[in-house]
Amino acid sequence: MSRRKIVAGNWKMNLELEEAAQWLSDVDAGLNSDQCDVLVFPSFILLPDLMDVYEGEQILFGAQNCSHKESGAYTGEVSAAQLASVGVEYVIIGHSERREHFGETNQMLKEKIQQALKNGMTPVFCCGEPLQVREEGKQQEYVKKQLTESVLGFSVAAMAEIIIAYEPVWAIGTGLNATTEQAQEMHAFIRSEIAAKYSNELAQQIPILYGGSCKPDNAKELFTCNDVDGGLIGGASLNAKDFLAIVQSA
Ligand code: 13P
Repeated sequence: MSRRKIVAGNWKMNLELEEAAQWLSDVDAGLNSDQCDVLVFPSFILLPDLMDVYEGEQILFGAQNCSHKESGAYTGEVSAAQLASVGVEYVIIGHSERREHFGETNQMLKEKIQQALKNGMTPVFCCGEPLQVREEGKQQEYVKKQLTESVLGFSVAAMAEIIIAYEPVWAIGTGLNATTEQAQEMHAFIRSEIAAKYSNELAQQIPILYGGSCKPDNAKELFTCNDVDGGLIGGASLNAKDFLAIVQSA
């Protein structure tokens, strides 16, 4: 079965409005769309303006986070319903930076996924082990726990809406990407866990992206792995030219 590739740019807390608008126009001009789905994840504040100025159809928009609460007295939070109300279609959930700096737990992430799905958005659920866990050889156990506690309890219909991103923490922003063997092994493992819980058919449908120091010079190799369906790109997504080169690799 061939899954459509996805290349997604997670800008994190980078780019201001003007630079971001320029990026959109540069990337749009360089895309010849049908090769893969192209997603971008700007900061909340930029999303409505960028979606307004963007006249193309090749780039899809997502948020980097949403609240696990529905609405109410949660100062500073942004709800999934609010994101959906301005037309946002994707949302990253459980990025390791949010787990690490903002104390997001597997249980909270499950609630965030529920909120996203309830509001018709596609969650991009991030999982991945820190260096120490990799050094102990316990990465599969670690990722399995993340999946089990946040994702694998959903219905078949809900599960079919989810995109997974494997982002080993030791590869994020370090310049040290996972090897193709490491990526393929973990992606196949994630798919086998989905197959065991649901069905092989469903497991084969779910896109599993790789993230962590994915760059123009390693993207092609990573994307040729059977179970790697594209990338979630941090640093290299900030530069339109580099990002386009990664899209070309997909
Ligand atoms: P880098 O590509 O900068 O390593 O970041 C990956 C990432 O965290 C994407 O979500």
